[in-house]
Amino acid sequence: MAEPRQNGVNAAQVEYWNSATSEKWVDNQERLDRQLSLVTDRLFDYAAIQPGERIIDVGCGTGASALRAAQATGPDGHVLGIDISHAMLDLARKRAAGMANLTLEIADGQIHEFAAGAHDVLQSRFGVMFFQDPTAAFANLLTALRPGGRLSFVCWATMADNPWFTISRNAAIRHLGEPEPTPPRAPGPTAFAETAYVMEILNGAGFVDATVNTETCQLVGADTAADTAAFSINVGPASRILKLHQPSAETVAAIYADVEAELGAYLTNDGIRVPARLNFVTARRSAP
Ligand SMILES: C[S@@+](CC[C@H](N)C(=O)[O-])C[C@H]1O[C@@H](n2cnc3c(N)ncnc32)[C@H](O)[C@@H]1O
Repeated sequence: MAEPRQNGVNAAQVEYWNSATSEKWVDNQERLDRQLSLVTDRLFDYAAIQPGERIIDVGCGTGASALRAAQATGPDGHVLGIDISHAMLDLARKRAAGMANLTLEIADGQIHEFAAGAHDVLQSRFGVMFFQDPTAAFANLLTALRPGGRLSFVCWATMADNPWFTISRNAAIRHLGEPEPTPPRAPGPTAFAETAYVMEILNGAGFVDATVNTETCQLVGADTAADTAAFSINVGPASRILKLHQPSAETVAAIYADVEAELGAYLTNDGIRVPARLNFVTARRSAP
């Protein structure tokens, strides 16, 4: 069940994040968190959480950034992690067992009635690009911040600058053909790739001092290109194309071989490291 006020808002995303996709995030939680570990470090540099602060983690999924925020704010602070995915939040709850300063709730960031002005920080690791009406969603999130409170999130920059997406996607397209094009700003991983669009949303929602810092971070892959390729095909954008076409085992093997060959270029002494182009976004609620 979605949250009581849902009334069809973000219905497609509620369905998507409660489908088999969420099971993939649950089954691969350790691996995904390892892959995003350096990105998370950078997000926390920007958020600069202080002991005692009250934080909302939007789209917290299986919980990595919410758990880390709870450690950063300590026993005098509090974290509210919200998400629309039951399976992902269930795992987050298991991981958070015994943590008194972390609450996890099924709630939609666009419409949830937050305790007004009761939080110091809104943060998100890849959880805010899926709103049907982003300006309305961020205006709603803003109500949760105290005057002067901070927003800090990370999202993907342009897909073309992200080999993690393009390698497996292009391999799937070579073998199966182009999928139906989706509008670049449609809810999805790269909806916030354009700096000007993100600024327009945040300014329109009432935030001040909005800044988009586009940086490169390394994604931590597996030890080998083969292992990373299998994971990339399973969870990346190629998985949507494969789901659509249900290709033969031979075609899947051919896609896999292409991805493995290209990922080989990213093998380092520490295993596969894929550079990711990311937008680290910060803003504030104006102080009186
Ligand atoms: C790409 S996943 C990231 C999950 C988690 N933050 C992480 O980094 O592991 C996006 C998350 O946003 C959640 N989400 C999507 N739309 C949402 C909404 N309107 N309100 C709250 N959560 C949402 C999804 O259910 C999913 O858990």
